[in-house]
Amino acid sequence: MNAPLVEMCDIGKSFGGVKAVDGVSLNLHPGEVVALLGHNGAGKSTLMKMLAGAYPIDSGEVLVQGQKSHIRTPVDAQRLGIESIYQTLALADNLDAVANLFLGRELLTPWRTLDDHRMDAEARKVFERLNKNFRNVRTPVRRLSGGQRQVVAISRAIYFNARILIMDEPTAALGPEETAMVGNLVRQLKAEGVGILLITHDMPDVFGLSDRLAVMKNGRLVGTYRTAGVTEDEVLGMIIAGKQPEGKAQAHSL
Ligand SMILES: Nc1ncnc2c1ncn2[C@@H]1O[C@H](COP(=O)(O)OP(=O)(O)OP(=O)(O)O)[C@@H](O)[C@H]1O
Ligand SMILES: [Mg+2]
Repeated sequence: MNAPLVEMCDIGKSFGGVKAVDGVSLNLHPGEVVALLGHNGAGKSTLMKMLAGAYPIDSGEVLVQGQKSHIRTPVDAQRLGIESIYQTLALADNLDAVANLFLGRELLTPWRTLDDHRMDAEARKVFERLNKNFRNVRTPVRRLSGGQRQVVAISRAIYFNARILIMDEPTAALGPEETAMVGNLVRQLKAEGVGILLITHDMPDVFGLSDRLAVMKNGRLVGTYRTAGVTEDEVLGMIIAGKQPEGKAQAHSL
C-alpha cells in the first residue's frame, strides 16, 4: 500500500460563530480519487480551501507525503504540488486563455522579459490535450463557453504538475460532452498517479470515478467508505440524514 499523499488530521474552521468544518480527518493516496459529498453548506469547499491555502486552518494539521506542512497561502500549497479548481473557476475575465493559464506564474526569457512565444505554444499544447476543438485561446475568457472556461481552469492546475488536485464541482455548469471530457481527464490523471479530491453532487460521477467517498454534514465527517462497498441509497442516507450505512466498515485508506 502506498503512503498517503495527504493526511488531514482533525481539521477545524469557524466563521464567526459558525463551525464550518469541525474535526474532519481525511487521507488521499497517489492515483486515488476521493469524492467529497454533502449538502449545500456542509463545509466541503471550506475544507478544500484550507488544503489549497486559500483559508488559514484554525485547528488540526496537514501532512503532505508524511511531512507536517504549513500551508498558509496558495503559493505554499502549490509548492507542495497541491493545485485546485474552484467552484467559481476564478479566472481573470478580461485576459485571454493563455494569460489565464500563466497568471502569476509567467514564463520568462533569459533576459527576464515575458516569453510570450513560449507561453502561447505551451498553452496550446495543454489546451489541445483537453479539448481538440479549443482554438480561440486569444479572446478574453469572458467570451468563452462554460466548457472552454473549464478547460482553462483545469489546464492551470495540470500544467504545473499537480500531485494533488482539488476539483470543486468541476462539471456543475457543463453539458454532457464537456462532462465526459472532465471524466476522461480525471481517469488520465489518476493513471499518472495524481491524487484527486473531487467535490460533486453528481452520483454517476461519484460511482464512475471515485475509489472512496467521504460525506460531510454540518461541518462534520459522517464517514469515509470504499465507493464499491456502498449503495447509492446508503450514500444518500449519509448526505441527507447523516446516517452511517449499517454493517459497513469505514475505509480510511485504499
Ligand atoms: N468566507 C466565508 N465567510 C463566512 N462564512 C462562510 C464562508 N465560507 C463558507 N462559510 C459558511 O461555512 C459553511 C460551509 O460552507 P461551504 O462553502 O464550505 O459549504 P459547501 O459544502 O461547499 O456547500 P456547497 O455544496 O453549497 O458548495 C456554510 O455555513 C457557509 O455559510
Ligand atoms: Mg462548495
